[in-house]
Amino acid sequence: MITLNSPLDMHLHLRDDDMLKIVAPLSSQDFAGAVVMPNLVPPVATIEDVKAYRDRIEKAIGNDDFEPFMTLFFKKEYDYNFLKEAKKYIKSIKLYPAGITTNSEGGVSQIDTDELKETLNAMSELQIPLCIHGESNGFVMDREKEFIPVYETLAKAFPNLKIIMEHITTKDSVDALKKYDNLYATITLHHLLITLDDVAGGLLQPHLFCKPIAKRPEDREALLNIALSGDKKVMFGSDSAPHPKSSKEAPGCAAGVFTAPIILPKLVELFDSHRKLDNLQAFISDNAREIYNLIPLKKDITLKKEEWEVPSDYDGVVPMFAGEKLEWRVI
Ligand code: NCD
Ligand code: ZN
Repeated sequence: MITLNSPLDMHLHLRDDDMLKIVAPLSSQDFAGAVVMPNLVPPVATIEDVKAYRDRIEKAIGNDDFEPFMTLFFKKEYDYNFLKEAKKYIKSIKLYPAGITTNSEGGVSQIDTDELKETLNAMSELQIPLCIHGESNGFVMDREKEFIPVYETLAKAFPNLKIIMEHITTKDSVDALKKYDNLYATITLHHLLITLDDVAGGLLQPHLFCKPIAKRPEDREALLNIALSGDKKVMFGSDSAPHPKSSKEAPGCAAGVFTAPIILPKLVELFDSHRKLDNLQAFISDNAREIYNLIPLKKDITLKKEEWEVPSDYDGVVPMFAGEKLEWRVI
């Protein structure tokens, strides 16, 4: 048995409407809170949007003790007064380079320090963390590496702004993270487990296709080392990104791995197999509390070693490890 105190998922897609109703309970039963991504269509970009989305999430999770940490979709038009009011309702702001991933068309086309400085200075002053999807529009395997200079420029120009490198997938990102006090990162479960080989080395696996794409074995090794060590600069963010089976098993497969139902069992198995279970609490909650300066709802989640089979789908949404047996289960 192992008990985790207030597990947090610091990067989660809950979607909307029917999909929200299917996926939200799968996170709210296992976690005390999650950073909810704003890439709806249209994106969550006003205070009214945030409040209305939060209400819909709360309806979808029913009675579970679970706090949705709301985010806004970054716009350079956000000024100090707007952000001061918004801060009452959000935990961070997510910046997407325009068109780089699902529903990011309204993102920033040019990340120019000068153009963004009013908003980023206001965020620094108000202590609102900036989450970034850090990919260029270059060759798919190099996109994250090509974005590192942008992180470095921002980290230097706004030293009091906490910048979170979302879902890092490369050794280069791990190295960059260590160089700047104000850079932090989320790491997903799937990027700790798979490489590009698992996605496309044999028959194509659409349910493992996501952005950023899984990289090389040495990249996965670097992610594993820093996550397993409990390093305070990294925290768990699943990037669980559900799409209907019809959009995944199709030409033009949508990007996103749906991990919500299997996260804690697989993380316990992974940390246990490396004899690092003692560091899981830091990765799954304590580091996030410090980075985001938050006190989560008190919620103990216990797992025991008992085999169970992952369903083939949840109302037409296929999870990672569908149909496979897992060693640990949440009780
Ligand atoms: C995410 C989605 O589907 O919203 N997809 C993904 O592959 N991770 C968007 C994102 O976080 O990039
Ligand atoms: Zn995401």
